[in-house]
Amino acid sequence: MPILSGRARIAGVTGWPVAHSRSPRLHGFWLERHRIDGAYVPLPIRPEAFEDAIRGLAVSGFAGLNVTIPHKLAAFAVCDTVDESARRAGAVNTIVFRDGKVAGSNTDGWGFVANLRAHGVEPAAGPALVLGAGGAARAIAAALQDCGVPVSVANRTVERATALARTLPGLSVLPWEQRASALAGFALVVNTTSLGMAGQAPLDLDLDGAPASLAVADIVYAPLETPLLAAARNRGLTAVEGLGMLLHQAVPGFRAWFGVEPAVDDELRRFVAADLTA
Ligand code: ATR
Repeated sequence: MPILSGRARIAGVTGWPVAHSRSPRLHGFWLERHRIDGAYVPLPIRPEAFEDAIRGLAVSGFAGLNVTIPHKLAAFAVCDTVDESARRAGAVNTIVFRDGKVAGSNTDGWGFVANLRAHGVEPAAGPALVLGAGGAARAIAAALQDCGVPVSVANRTVERATALARTLPGLSVLPWEQRASALAGFALVVNTTSLGMAGQAPLDLDLDGAPASLAVADIVYAPLETPLLAAARNRGLTAVEGLGMLLHQAVPGFRAWFGVEPAVDDELRRFVAADLTA
């Protein structure tokens, strides 16, 4: 730990619980690399105390926060201003404090798209199919639409997919049962469900009918290679791992709080991944 000066910039991540978060490790790596007079700390905040805590941090000289489960919707509500990314996602994952005011944005969709590009996948290449209809699905579907491609969503509970389509005009709903047979019409398929996570069943997605040009992305990053990504790689398809989204979504916050543009590179990936495989 560096010794902080009285001018140190302080940011952190709030969740409940927050102990599982990799964000302190990730931002800590960049702080050390750039020898910044600053710190990034975990802030476990109970849901019932969330608004008071944010108001308190806003007037305590904090630079800003990342927001994780279960606070992303509450953060949206507490912000004095939110940008278009937060409005489209309906949730806030990044807060910047300025003059006691709370400004919110959502970098999840941006991080997803940046990670696609880092894997050589151009999101504008063709239609995208999003599997799942939770908060991550909404942020990703919105970001893909903003790239100008048609986006479809398929979810086990169709009502949640239909509700998502109401919030994102232009989004098509595909029956969950057709997720595999429809793959021929897509350039990209992304798993935003919790399936494939360590301790969960794998996502059941038959890639037999997938075109050779299909890119397969997963937002699950523990394990680093999910059964879905392994199956894609075995078929020679481009596989886009979830860890990169976590790394890229952190970039805009770090830049805003500490004034340095941090790089997402192999050294960072290895450092964060080492903690996942330990
Ligand atoms: P988040 O907001 O983190 O993206 P969430 O709201 O908990 O996540 O949503 C999890 C997603 O995984 C949902 O789309 C869920 O489908 P339902 O809406 O039908 O619940 C999906 N999911 C979880 N377990 C599943 C399973 N066994 N089969 C299919 N989908 C599943």
